[in-house]
Amino acid sequence: MKKMLFVLFISFVLVSCSKEESSKGKQPAVSADTAVSVQSVVTNVAPVPASQADFDFTKIALGGKLFKENCAQCHGNNAEGTPDWRKRNPDGTLKPPPLDGTAHTWHHPKELLMSIITTGTLNQGGGMPDWGDKLSQQEIDAILTWVQSKWPEEIYADWLEINRR
Ligand code: HEC
Repeated sequence: MKKMLFVLFISFVLVSCSKEESSKGKQPAVSADTAVSVQSVVTNVAPVPASQADFDFTKIALGGKLFKENCAQCHGNNAEGTPDWRKRNPDGTLKPPPLDGTAHTWHHPKELLMSIITTGTLNQGGGMPDWGDKLSQQEIDAILTWVQSKWPEEIYADWLEINRR
C-alpha cells in the first residue's frame, strides 16, 4: 500500500519533555530535544511496520551505513548521543542527544522526525545540520528504520501510539 503524496504545513513547537531535572537545582531545566520549532516538510512518509520484527532488513543495512557516514560523528556509532547531552552548551545550543530510545526521539511522530532531519535546526539557532539536499527521503527513512531497530520493544510500541495520533 502506497501513501499518497501530501504536504503538511504544521508548525510544531517542541518543548522539553523532561521531568527529572527540577529536583536538582544545579542543572538547567532542559533536556536535549529540539528546542526550536520545526515545520513539517515531509512529502511522503513510508508505512510504519506494526512491529520491529517486520522491519525490512535491507533498509536497516542501508540506514546503518548512511548513519555511520553522516550522523555518527555527532550522535555516536550506536546512536548513543553525546555524554552529558542533558546539559546545554555554553552558547545555549543543545548537544546531539541519543537517538537510541533512551532520550526523546521516540516522543515524535515519524513525519516530524523526518522533517527535523530534512531541515535541521541550524537555521534556527540549533545544532542539527540539514540533510534535505544530501539525502533522499528514502535514505532518511532507511536511517530512521536503523535508528528504530535500536529501540527497546516497549519504546517502539509506545511510539506507535504517538505516531498514530
Ligand atoms: C554536527 C552534529 C550533528 C550531525 C552530523 C547530526 N546531528 Fe542530529 N542533532 C544534532 C543536535 C545538536 C541535535 C539537537 C537538536 C537541536 O539542535 O535543537 C540533533 C537532533 C536530532 C534529532 C532530534 C532528536 C530528538 O530527540 O528530538 C534527530 C532525529 C536527529 N538529530 C537525527 C540525525 C540524523 C539522522 C543525522 C544524520 C543524517 C544527524 N542527526 C546528524 C547534531 C547533529
